[in-house]
Amino acid sequence: MTNEQQLKQSVQDGRMIESVEEMTDGYKKALEQILLVSGDTELMSAPAYYTESMNAPSLNARTSCVSVIQDELGHGHIAYRLLEDLGYDREDLVYGREPHEFRNTYGFDQPLENFAELVCAHGMWDRAGIVLLGDIHENTSYAPWKRALTKVSKEEQFHLRHGETWMRRLANKSGQTGEKIQEAVDWMFPMGVEWFGMPDGKKKNNDQLEYRIKGKTNDELRQDWLSRTVPMCEDLGLDVPAHYDEESEEYVVEYDLPVAFDERGKEWRFDESISWSDVMDRWRSRGPANERYVNMLQSGKLEGAV
Ligand SMILES: [Fe+2]
Ligand SMILES: [Fe+2]
Repeated sequence: MTNEQQLKQSVQDGRMIESVEEMTDGYKKALEQILLVSGDTELMSAPAYYTESMNAPSLNARTSCVSVIQDELGHGHIAYRLLEDLGYDREDLVYGREPHEFRNTYGFDQPLENFAELVCAHGMWDRAGIVLLGDIHENTSYAPWKRALTKVSKEEQFHLRHGETWMRRLANKSGQTGEKIQEAVDWMFPMGVEWFGMPDGKKKNNDQLEYRIKGKTNDELRQDWLSRTVPMCEDLGLDVPAHYDEESEEYVVEYDLPVAFDERGKEWRFDESISWSDVMDRWRSRGPANERYVNMLQSGKLEGAV
């Protein structure tokens, strides 16, 4: 058995990893990859949330929105702090990279352009974060990350509650406000479905599971998200292209995943079926707000340097 196989076996048997000295190259690489995506997603959610937080309809709402942003910056720092133990430089991660080098989820490359979109991001995308991090919190073999996530999970629950409360408030209003929530859900819900990546059958590299850096597969995580998000939307009278299927006893999406996304019009072209490698290309070329968000984050540093 190679070192890699031995480590995979021992973490599957419950061994916890405390430091870089205990890692193989394969373990370290898989951990770095997921920590970068996680840290960048947390960090980039802050500028994504910022503009519409300033347009919140009451002082109370604005205060909650700003404290969410503060939390997200803190979550980003936790992930980068863990990456420092693996040899990265935190300053360099935040300020030393070009916009296209960030690895955040594609959703946070999208402009959020009204308050309805902001609260849908909290109600649906923070739920995606909770599902992903909740799995890591429960199942990861990397002990320092497990400990750090206790604080993160509590704060994410607050973001979600804030999002759901406001989605309900706006959805109950007649006329334009109610319509805005449905319009936001129309493009943001499928973004949440895509968030979890390739279906299990298509995925070739399973290192993160084999090293037990995470515990659940993409499809299991997507199912977790659907099982919370679909009933919430149905309860608010919002239409989503997914439902519970009695026969298979799971939530099913009512289109063939994956599909093309028109970034300018914020519209999914449900009848235009594409491949997962097309999705990866779309993610890699980053979305329309990527540069603006990275500039917002890095501007403090640039101004300070002048
Ligand atoms: Fe977060
Ligand atoms: Fe959050």
